[in-house]
Amino acid sequence: MKRFADQVVVITGAANGIGEACALRFAEEGARIACLDVAAEANEETAVTCRNLGVEAVALYCDVTDEASVATAVTAIREKWGRIDVLVASAGIYTGAPLAEVSRQQWQRTLDINLTGVFLTNQAVAPVLMAQGSGSIINLSSMAGKTSWPASAEYSASKSGVIGLTRSVAMELAPYGATANAVCPGNTLTDMVRGVAGKVGALDGLTGEEWLQMRANDCPMKRLAEPWEIAGVIAFLASADSRYLTGQALEVDGGMVMS
Ligand SMILES: NC(=O)c1ccc[n+]([C@@H]2O[C@H](COP(=O)([O-])OP(=O)(O)OC[C@H]3O[C@@H](n4cnc5c(N)ncnc54)[C@H](O)[C@@H]3O)[C@@H](O)[C@H]2O)c1
Repeated sequence: MKRFADQVVVITGAANGIGEACALRFAEEGARIACLDVAAEANEETAVTCRNLGVEAVALYCDVTDEASVATAVTAIREKWGRIDVLVASAGIYTGAPLAEVSRQQWQRTLDINLTGVFLTNQAVAPVLMAQGSGSIINLSSMAGKTSWPASAEYSASKSGVIGLTRSVAMELAPYGATANAVCPGNTLTDMVRGVAGKVGALDGLTGEEWLQMRANDCPMKRLAEPWEIAGVIAFLASADSRYLTGQALEVDGGMVMS
């Protein structure tokens, strides 16, 4: 019996990176997958890959910053499958701009996607879990939510916010037998990190490749994470094995931050 057989897993940011890796991991373990993203073509590709693994999967356009868009997606999922067991809130952005270059608009955009988007999706899904008396929410924070480095002011602020939000959601879900946790990945080899490596590296006179190598050297495990390694921990947090684990912000960073 597959661990998530017949369960309904909703993943924001499913078109790429960690969200995509989660979609594939949950599909391999038998779940029905709702892929939510604004990148329609890549999102459909994720859903097709899931279906090729033998499960039902849908790609739904959803902008997590837009309450109506989130509500439409959640309604469509409930109409199709009648329940939601897991929400993985992975949609996010990171621009890698130093403080002086962060415009008010960019600050707001990052908070809208990385923090308000998590709030809106949690708010839409939590009542479903409460009514069922079961389920899990896993929100993507970051190592940057617990510590920080230059050129991540708005990103760090949003990711610290996700940890506080997740704790409160966990408190509200707990009496209903549902859980909420955050994961805090270290640098993970996705388009997001590769996309900003050159820009952030340039601040230290490094190329993108040199910056990625420096980040790997800084890590006790001497390498960066692969998306599937984050997905594995997220699957654990959604599984019956973590029923009594809630309100935590779990570092998945090769030992970079130990708390
Ligand atoms: N990659 C890392 O090193 C790393 C480390 C720590 C935390 N994280 C977090 O993990 C999550 C996933 O990161 P990733 O590396 O896979 O990034 P990614 O860029 O590969 O994927 C992010 C996805 O979010 C989607 N998205 C962006 N704005 C959206 C919106 N308004 N509505 C719906 N979808 C939207 C994008 O289209 C994309 O598919 C993010 O929250 C990120 O902050 C990543």
